[in-house]
Amino acid sequence: MQVMVTGGAGYLGSVITDQLLEAGHAVVVFDNLSKGHRDAVAKGARFVEGDLLESEFVRDILEREEVDAVVHMAASSLVSESMTVPERYYHNNVIATLGLLEAMRAVGVQIMVFSSTAAVYGEPVKQPIVESDATAPSNPYGETKLVCERALHWHHRAHGLLYASLRYFNAAGATQARGERHEPETHLIPLVLRALDPGNPPITVFGIDYPTRDGTCVRDYVHVSDLARAHIAVLEALEKGGLFEGIFNLGSGTGYTVWEVLKAARRVTGRNIPTHIGLRRPGDPPVLVASAERIRDVLGWVAQRGTLEEIMESAWKWKIAHDMNWSAYRRSSA
Ligand code: UFG
Repeated sequence: MQVMVTGGAGYLGSVITDQLLEAGHAVVVFDNLSKGHRDAVAKGARFVEGDLLESEFVRDILEREEVDAVVHMAASSLVSESMTVPERYYHNNVIATLGLLEAMRAVGVQIMVFSSTAAVYGEPVKQPIVESDATAPSNPYGETKLVCERALHWHHRAHGLLYASLRYFNAAGATQARGERHEPETHLIPLVLRALDPGNPPITVFGIDYPTRDGTCVRDYVHVSDLARAHIAVLEALEKGGLFEGIFNLGSGTGYTVWEVLKAARRVTGRNIPTHIGLRRPGDPPVLVASAERIRDVLGWVAQRGTLEEIMESAWKWKIAHDMNWSAYRRSSA
């Protein structure tokens, strides 16, 4: 298949691109590099720098590159930012996705795998979360992803679009070549490891008074290569006619607290993690754990690298091998 990966220069998009190429597919990465990195795009992929809001251009690329399917990852995805600039999320997530769908329809591209999020559930009343649970996003990020999911559903009904929407829980970890390097970084695991860099602030634990086993938030961390593997499975099922429409949680089914993440980081790195206890971060639900039974039953996908140690170990190895601050530190302390 000829697959266009929007946002393919990002953290998860780059791993998906690698796996698509390994599986024998051809890949066009479409990215505006606002957050992604040019050097995260595999050499075997064709790279197009562009903006999804330029619909005509998107249409040209789909046609010229003879794209068969789109993995749509490109989005604005910071919960806290979405609370202060919601308009950016409506533009970059809703308007861009609608434009992309229109361009796909105009040139007859019928398959989409869509990046969605656990944020569509808001603050769920029971755990683990199943896909049929109520959706009640508590921030514009989750809201805009849900709007897109609904648009995909109606495009399926009206125009025969074949699609799957994948609701990610906490993507984490690294492959040998690709790791997490957002700027600004807001995610727990990379920030925990960054706290080890000289000159960096300690990690702030956002709240120790949650109704959880140790007072800190519980999250379902899922390894980035497991997440990527789910995309390939879904895409191939859509292509082969084994799936027409689907919404799937992608998680490991196990939740860990922030304290447990810090303990795992200590064990894996052999270092004390400088820590500071702070206030709750607005909008953080106490617990988010996926039931991933639906995707297991339909496609046989399960998270294989589900332990926190394994995820942390991979992130740590990647940091040692690729993170510039860390290399400088090692050189200066050698
Ligand atoms: N946390 C800290 N300190 C930090 C960063 C995070 O204590 O410096 C805590 C958070 O409070 C949260 C946990 O670590 O309890 C994980 O936080 P992340 O920012 O790594 O991830 P989130 O759970 O907030 O975000 C994830 C996805 C989003 C999605 C959201 C749904 O990354 O895309 O879940 O709530 F929208």
